[in-house]
Amino acid sequence: MAGEDPREKIPGVPRRRPVHKEISDGREPFFPNFLLKEWIVGSIFLVGFMLWIIFNPVELGPKADPMDSSFIPVPDWYFLFLYQLLKYFGPYLLFPAVLIPMVATLLLMFVPWLDTRRSRRPFRRPFATGAMVLSVFMMIWLTSEAWNQHLYEIGALQPAASSLPFATQHPASTTLMATNLPGYAIFKTTCAVCHGADLQGQIGPELRGIGNVATEAELLPVVTKGFPPMMPPAGGLTSKTELQEVVAWLAQQKQK
Ligand code: HEC
Repeated sequence: MAGEDPREKIPGVPRRRPVHKEISDGREPFFPNFLLKEWIVGSIFLVGFMLWIIFNPVELGPKADPMDSSFIPVPDWYFLFLYQLLKYFGPYLLFPAVLIPMVATLLLMFVPWLDTRRSRRPFRRPFATGAMVLSVFMMIWLTSEAWNQHLYEIGALQPAASSLPFATQHPASTTLMATNLPGYAIFKTTCAVCHGADLQGQIGPELRGIGNVATEAELLPVVTKGFPPMMPPAGGLTSKTELQEVVAWLAQQKQK
């Protein structure tokens, strides 16, 4: 028959497809053709990258200092989005730490079985493309959020104390006053996340000794207005009575 591989007739010679086929069916063997190409590109990239970092060494970050207790550790930038995800889920850590990454990875692994359509055009595969765009967007957004919050924590974005309406004087006494007032409990649940359980400040400024510099009447409009976006109006309180109670308690924070 015409076109038959003559080797098929020779005993002991394996049957193979002719190497130079005139008409390709668009496929190529994974081994060795595809793998070899990948391997060559990978090697060129690796060697290039290695040379690049040999001649442009970059420090990993500031040197570790065991005496520096104000150091706030954060993961490397490429893990910041996962780190940020952890923060949003609070006590339900199982979701961001295990379930979401696991489901995403499993989905990726099963794509060859889930998406069997032949077309590779992005616009013909709205679900895959959408999921991809969404995840990239989420990663960028979460990374930027994490980084901004970190800058805030290390004080790089903290506003100068002078820009605050009430300049507290860092009093020596740290005793909380009037803890029997209802406002104290409200403060602990609503404001302490940002201002610290002992008023020592965290994301928000220190409020120790605020009673020395501000009266209840002066505090009320400031707290009501808040400092959007850093502090929501009324610190997030929706009840007017609670707001008045927490302000009444704050005004009692007169410290030496
Ligand atoms: C999400 C975080 C957050 C919460 C919750 C929050 N604050 Fe604040 N607060 C801030 C930040 C940040 C500032 C400083 C804003 C600035 O510098 O412009 C601030 C400023 C203040 C100031 C002005 C301090 C000064 O020295 O002038 C007062 C008073 C205050 N907050 C009271 C409260 C009270 C009361 C609550 C609870 C009802 C509360 N905050 C809840 C973040 C928060």
